[in-house]
Amino acid sequence: MERNRCLVIADSLDDAGHGVGVDRGVTVHVADLLPGEQAEVALEHASPHKAEAWGRVARRIGPASPDRVEPACPAFGRCGGCVWQHLAYPAQLVRKHDRVARALAPLGPAIEVAAVVPSPSERHYRNKGKYVAARLGRRLILGAFAPRTHAVIDTVGCQIVAPIVDEVAAWIRGAAEAAELAPYDEATRQGELRYAVVRASAAGEALAALIVAPGASPIRVEEVAAAVARHPAVRGVIALVNARTDGSIMPAEAEAMLAIGQPSLVETISGVEVEVGASEFLQVNRDQAQAIYDRVAVLAGAAEGVRAIDLYAGLGGITFALARAGARVHAVEIDPTAVANLIRAAQRAGWGDRVSARAGDAATARGATDVLVVNPPRKGLGARAREAIIALAPPTIVYVSCGPESLADDLVALTVAGWRVDTVEPFDLMPGTPQIETVVRLHRA
Ligand SMILES: C[S@@+](CC[C@H](N)C(=O)[O-])C[C@H]1O[C@@H](n2cnc3c(N)ncnc32)[C@H](O)[C@@H]1O
Repeated sequence: MERNRCLVIADSLDDAGHGVGVDRGVTVHVADLLPGEQAEVALEHASPHKAEAWGRVARRIGPASPDRVEPACPAFGRCGGCVWQHLAYPAQLVRKHDRVARALAPLGPAIEVAAVVPSPSERHYRNKGKYVAARLGRRLILGAFAPRTHAVIDTVGCQIVAPIVDEVAAWIRGAAEAAELAPYDEATRQGELRYAVVRASAAGEALAALIVAPGASPIRVEEVAAAVARHPAVRGVIALVNARTDGSIMPAEAEAMLAIGQPSLVETISGVEVEVGASEFLQVNRDQAQAIYDRVAVLAGAAEGVRAIDLYAGLGGITFALARAGARVHAVEIDPTAVANLIRAAQRAGWGDRVSARAGDAATARGATDVLVVNPPRKGLGARAREAIIALAPPTIVYVSCGPESLADDLVALTVAGWRVDTVEPFDLMPGTPQIETVVRLHRA
């Protein structure tokens, strides 16, 4: 065997979707190799610190995995988005379950992880598309960074976003090309159009955001925005100026350059009509998010007379599910726009006396409650929010997590502080990816 070649039988998949196997003591990550498959691998990179290397299949040996399927997207393997698309959905669910079980192992053998609730749809479930603008030859493309590079892969034609999102993205690309709006170049920091974001509602209406560099021509941006606004599904277009170099697409301080039409769409979430702008957090898989909210209301025992606090409330999907069951809910969320929309939605629903909300850090939550629901970002609660929760001392906590590893850290801390985990239910919000959402209920012992 040459030094830059090795033989690998994959026995697991990493978060980048690469098959992982061991050859002569070195852990090798191989693109497009599924567990059970064997290949001669051309090594492309070796870690200088650990016995770990990365490579690609040079020659396949033996049969393909019975779980191998044709990926849905033309950009699969290049865009870095849905890295498990070549794995059959039932096999994805088994691996997602194992990920949760492995992460929660430090809590002890008594923790039972339920089977993953599958997403109602495997394709077209994303109600939002985020695109990086770049030049490919003479063309402007909208796409995603290829993993670990600044090369942009064209993702128009993506099978994961709702068709209307893809259609509006293609329309933006056409409008930008027609107006000669130059795509921004990360390397030279020259150019105008940096990103585009498209959000669609269940009713098929869309909002578009053009995120441009500080030097972008207002005339050309306006021309593109006006052309995008002419798409029959588009209800509003905004343009924002983003000077950041850290990859954030719509930072809070991005300055508005123009706005045409409506600033938001209306989504029905947990039975309530909520205004949703281009930048507020909203789960991308609408139907599965609703299944989670409904399950949270059941696990929380939401009913008349029950007091609940919903931390990290976003636009209120969980708040409204609890209120719909009769609970009196106080929501805390850091984004003031989301809080304002949540309050307006509660008032429209006639729940002004049942739902209250405050813009602020979850760690500042106070008050007596029967049940506390938390749904933090992937990094989990952090020390300050954990302390606040322990001080609130709710008899029941329902924790909705998108990060199994941070969830495990938080659950260990909460069990040390006196709570016991009694339910662990994973829900798949993102087919084709290693991502998994987990709903956990704890009771104070
Ligand atoms: C995973 S999302 C959940 C939102 C909502 N529960 C839902 O299902 O749509 C996390 C939310 O936490 C908010 N957030 C982030 N850091 C926060 C903090 N320190 N305190 C309160 N909210 C925060 C984000 O703005 C976002 O809306």
